[in-house]
Amino acid sequence: MFHGRGMSKLILVSNRLPIKINDSGEVERTTGGLASALEGAGIKGDFSWIGWGGICEEEIDDIESYEKKLAEVGVSPVQLSSDEIDGYYEGYSNSTLWPMLHYMVDRAKFSPDWFTCYRQVNEKFAKTVALHADEGGTVWIHDYHLFMLPALLKEMRPDLKIGFFLHTPFPSSEIFRALPDRHEILEGMLGCDLIGFHTYNYLRHFRSSLLRVLGIEDGADGIYHGNRFVDYGVYPIGHNRVGFQKAMETDTYKEALKEHAERLGDGKLLLSVERLDYTKGVPQKLEAIRRFLESNPDQRSKVNFVIIAVPSRVGVEEYDELTEIVQREVGAINGDYGEVGHSPVQFLHRGFPVEELSAFYALADVCMVTPTVDGMNLVAKEYIDCKRKKFGARAGVLMLSEFAGAAQEMSHALLVNPHDTHGVAKTIEEALAMTDDDMWNRVRAMQARLSRNDAGAWAKLFLGDLEKSGNNENHPNAHETLAQVGDDVSARIKKGEKIALLLDYDGTLRAFVDRPEDAVPEQEVLELLGKFGDHPNVHIAVISGRPKDFLEKHFGHLNIDLVAEHGYYWKRITESGEGEWDVLDKRADTSWKDAVIPHLEWAVTLTPGSEIEEKRSSVVWHYRRADPEFGLWRAKGLLSELTSTTASLPVSVHHGQKIVEVASQLVNKGIAADQLIQEWRPAIAVAAGDDQTDENMFSLTPPENVHLHTVKIGEGSTRAEHRTTISGLRKFLKSLANQL
Ligand code: UDP
Ligand code: G6P
Repeated sequence: MFHGRGMSKLILVSNRLPIKINDSGEVERTTGGLASALEGAGIKGDFSWIGWGGICEEEIDDIESYEKKLAEVGVSPVQLSSDEIDGYYEGYSNSTLWPMLHYMVDRAKFSPDWFTCYRQVNEKFAKTVALHADEGGTVWIHDYHLFMLPALLKEMRPDLKIGFFLHTPFPSSEIFRALPDRHEILEGMLGCDLIGFHTYNYLRHFRSSLLRVLGIEDGADGIYHGNRFVDYGVYPIGHNRVGFQKAMETDTYKEALKEHAERLGDGKLLLSVERLDYTKGVPQKLEAIRRFLESNPDQRSKVNFVIIAVPSRVGVEEYDELTEIVQREVGAINGDYGEVGHSPVQFLHRGFPVEELSAFYALADVCMVTPTVDGMNLVAKEYIDCKRKKFGARAGVLMLSEFAGAAQEMSHALLVNPHDTHGVAKTIEEALAMTDDDMWNRVRAMQARLSRNDAGAWAKLFLGDLEKSGNNENHPNAHETLAQVGDDVSARIKKGEKIALLLDYDGTLRAFVDRPEDAVPEQEVLELLGKFGDHPNVHIAVISGRPKDFLEKHFGHLNIDLVAEHGYYWKRITESGEGEWDVLDKRADTSWKDAVIPHLEWAVTLTPGSEIEEKRSSVVWHYRRADPEFGLWRAKGLLSELTSTTASLPVSVHHGQKIVEVASQLVNKGIAADQLIQEWRPAIAVAAGDDQTDENMFSLTPPENVHLHTVKIGEGSTRAEHRTTISGLRKFLKSLANQL
């Protein structure tokens, strides 16, 4: 049983609710994996649902009594107009996203108007949730209709803990990046505290889309985005085990079982159950059935291929066409292979309640689950679960597509490639020839896993992780904002005490651009630094990895200290405003470069778009212009290669923002910052930087009486105590300058 956090209630949000009000005004179940699983999730206590009731707003005669009925079962509906159903549901969700998520780019249709409508409806959901959620409450959002909701909601209600679960596959980034609105979709998802997928493959694709589309190099189980940690994980959904158990105890089940068993006699039942969706591979399955009947004339009168196809998304062109294609082919097969009194294929174009469905499952000799792509597929799990002798079930075998998420968990099924008509037809023969013992052994092996991982266990696991997510205590990382630092520094300024600023340049004072030579400081930054430099109570240094010539060219005219090449060179400004460049530690030896450069050169040869930069005290391999995924992969290879070849050299190797750098151990920003602070002796110092080289500044121990505040810019793990963005730091510096 799950409850909201503390006293607050949990809110579940999905486009499709597990219930609807039918034409006679009664509450009824809806069909689909999302609805089934959430119905079976066993979430009890103080929670509510927010979602669309499945009817167009204009068609509801009495909205007040309609909403009242839903409220009685804990549902707050989001009403959709017919235009919104066109643009958001049938359009963007089901004619753009659904085919894209299932690798069917050529079925996908794109319209900027649909996307606008999708965003507006996501906003509508956000407002409804924001209105209903308790302070500090938990919200669990479901599926692709609501990709943009997490970020919209987080902005309105940062106090909420937000989880998102995707019930479909997440496709390869090669497919995902063809989506015109790819940035907005990913940014929308990143508004969450926890994002869940059915399989590791979907998570892997999502991570590579983050890298390719947003340029984010993540950690294995989450990323920093803005000022928050976004966790992600793999949570394979389970079926409603309790619901099926209950259904099999009813009289309806027993009657259906008896009736179907009598009708079947000693005939074989080969069952299919699915929404009539083009991802379910029904035409391919019919082709295999045709081939099987063709090559097994002796079986034609014995087999009953029962296809339960629940009408779905009626009105969406692709679905209407599919229905026609399937009906035509079923007729054609029966015309070719049927006999008087027997049609080998029986097409039932309607949905069944669980009590009847479980009777079909219990009886079926074979269940043919053959989608071409499917996020999970619960039918496969339900079929195996219903094979219970105590409820009169017969032995049966599951035929399962390799391309269903469920295939990863159900290795005792007969796995098939649905596109391989010949292979599927042969597997039907194999299934029909299997002994009962073999079938039961396979069933039992799969049941053991299913009983531990049903819908209830899935929800419990996700909600448990959601509770823990987003808590920065879980990550040894910065979690304070800059607000406190601002107050502290202001107070010191007012008292006339000395303050010090140690600022990195790239990624801290200036955003990255493709060509490092284009990243020149903006006028506003120069003015700010100039103002600090001229103030008697402020010490300031720009501490960068850049060569001294660059720093001299852009900052040389200012009254500030400069540190180049991560602390190899520095330029100290005297009272009279003069300064000379000098080597900070004359002992720094660079003869190790000869051993290192050949490795970097080889990496350049192997990686188009990468290059070497040689500095006095370090050598750097840059891969900003290489393919992002390839570059990262090579960087990791290069890192391990360098770590072993430089083991006995006086160097440190590190992986920074799109670079791998080998630098002299006697030179680092921490040593430079330490020397500056020792000499300046300010009351308070603020050190800010964005990458690994800045960590040396963050970990230095300041002298007594100097209070050091460390600030990480952007994402990634850090030893700094505060975190902000480039613009956050800019705002902070401006406000300091205004107080001088
Ligand atoms: N279902 C049902 N009645 C039917 C046919 C299917 O209740 O007549 C349910 C089935 O029990 C399963 C869900 O619909 O829980 C289908 O989920 P699945 O994950 O297989 O596919 P999805 O529809 O989500 O793509
Ligand atoms: C899939 C989707 C669900 C959806 C269901 C039925 O399972 O992942 O989000 O509810 O299909 O589709 P429908 O369009 O009727 O909601």
